[in-house]
Amino acid sequence: MSKNIYVTQPSLPPLDEYVALLEEIWDTGILTHNGPMVRNLESQLCEKLALSNLSLVTNGTIALQMAMKALDLKGEVITTPFSWIATVSAIKWEHCTPVFCDIDEDTFNIDVDKIEDLINENTVAIMPVHVFGAACDIERIEAIAAKHGLKVIYDAAHALGSTYKGKSLLSYGDVSATSLHGTKLFNTAEGGACIAKTDSLHERINRIRFFGHDESRDIVEDGFNGKMTEVHAALGLANLKYFDDVLKDRKSKYHLYMDTLSGVQGLTYQAIKFGECNYSYFPIVFENEDVLLNVMAALNSNDIYPRRYFYPSLNTFEKVVSKQAAPVSESLSKRILCLPLYKGLQVSDIQTICQIVKAAM
Ligand SMILES: Cc1ncc(COP(=O)(O)O)c(C=O)c1O
Repeated sequence: MSKNIYVTQPSLPPLDEYVALLEEIWDTGILTHNGPMVRNLESQLCEKLALSNLSLVTNGTIALQMAMKALDLKGEVITTPFSWIATVSAIKWEHCTPVFCDIDEDTFNIDVDKIEDLINENTVAIMPVHVFGAACDIERIEAIAAKHGLKVIYDAAHALGSTYKGKSLLSYGDVSATSLHGTKLFNTAEGGACIAKTDSLHERINRIRFFGHDESRDIVEDGFNGKMTEVHAALGLANLKYFDDVLKDRKSKYHLYMDTLSGVQGLTYQAIKFGECNYSYFPIVFENEDVLLNVMAALNSNDIYPRRYFYPSLNTFEKVVSKQAAPVSESLSKRILCLPLYKGLQVSDIQTICQIVKAAM
């Protein structure tokens, strides 16, 4: 029986290594409340990525919301329509209004030339996404934010492992919020993290994460429950040992796809213009949606399931946002497909996938 190939598969450590950490949890009896596994994973991530002020939280959506709470944002937030719905739902749950800025057709990230036209007296922040781990035009975004007195929160859900100017991509913005969901390059099953620019913001995020308690257990502000559990942190600790291998493997498979598909007429790719990408996805772009649907059908009939990331463009979800124009994002959304990419994917699988793509085009 042939196996199904999905767009991704979670990276998992050897089971016995995870079980050994679970035994420690059973010994301490500590399941949550900023326990030793969470603190250990925070410090190992900070060391590995040369970061400070990192707080582990329940998931990437909560990380975005906590960043907004910690910055006291109320008003309009300029963001990208080419993202997962969580970017918008986080903004809306914090009672802010998403304002869509169209994307750059080469990088698929927010089009910096279009941001300033959208700024008005209600604008409080910019929330760009480093789509597929490729850095946004950070320098220009931060210059615009400084000029207009705006906060910057990066939705860095895909960005762990990417760098910009030699530093982790997570180190930019007032806060970067990442996801450690099972589909991500580094995962804790469900999970996320906020990386804050200042110590005081970091302390505030930690208070908000824990119901608004300060060190003395006094309630000093509105908080909520954003805590990561020990069981999730233990999976992260076990996975972290293999992170460099996973990163290296993605890069070589990304380049294998590129080489195997090179010269195919009618295919284009994301331009990585800034920094070093973590190559966590392999998106391909067709000339039109019909070709994409043909290719998807051909792959599906061979038990291969790529994913339409991101479709449809967020500005078209009229049940949750007021429709705003974003023609570049709408066009890209209809034509982009992420091919399978994960550690267990075989070289022969990539060759088969590429053959099917070529034949169906
Ligand atoms: C761009 C983007 N932002 C935010 C999120 C939310 O992350 P989580 O699933 O950890 O809540 C995701 C999740 O996949 C995402 O792709």
